[in-house]
Amino acid sequence: MSSTFRIAPSILSADFSRLGEEVRSVIAAGADWIHFDVMDNHYVPNLTFGPMICEALKPHAKTAEGVAVPIDVHLMVQPVDALAQAFAQAGADYISFHPDASTHVHRSVQAIKSHGCKAGLVFNPAASLDVLDWMIDDIDLILLMSVNPGFGGQSFIDSTFRKIEDARRRIEASGKDIRLEVDGGIKGENIRRVADAGADTFVAGSAIFGKPDYRSVIDGMREKLSTP
Ligand code: DX5
Ligand code: ZN
Repeated sequence: MSSTFRIAPSILSADFSRLGEEVRSVIAAGADWIHFDVMDNHYVPNLTFGPMICEALKPHAKTAEGVAVPIDVHLMVQPVDALAQAFAQAGADYISFHPDASTHVHRSVQAIKSHGCKAGLVFNPAASLDVLDWMIDDIDLILLMSVNPGFGGQSFIDSTFRKIEDARRRIEASGKDIRLEVDGGIKGENIRRVADAGADTFVAGSAIFGKPDYRSVIDGMREKLSTP
């Protein structure tokens, strides 16, 4: 199990008129990854941003010491492959997609990795993990949706806890260092329970952005994660 927890603020809830500043601020407040929720108004009923925004923000995705902060692209798009390539060229570090949005899942994962990015699969609340029977040796990240994809600010769907436990068992059995990320409805009040179920990477949008002090929110999450 990855010993290090990662907090991945989703810029879906950031101030879109100041995205560069928001990315710098949340990194200064301790963010480990920057989560990009890419939506096409086809696979999900919302439209967000494309690879040009990723390219524009890439120079801002680094710490004050100049250390690059991974850009964690979550593609809620169909088809997958062309946009995955465009985000890889725009500087994405992780690219994850929904298997039901790709005609050939194994080929889409191979293509993401051929561009030098880490590849992830995303599972909606009603989706089974069965595709992992054939894909777990090829991926670097499993992303579990704890809300229905498309919008921030929703409530955590409790059945996700069981799915996190299942995914963790699969990762342990694979012997691979795969990150287990959960996305949707995560906040200080529930992050520890999500971690106890087996997650190690946490997407949080509305729990962080829009708050007066990003550092106190992120520190509060870390404290909940580290308290025995
Ligand atoms: C849904 C999005 C959200 C977002 C997190 O498609 O993926 O889950 O990242 O939003 P919050 O943290 O506000 O639930
Ligand atoms: Zn997401």
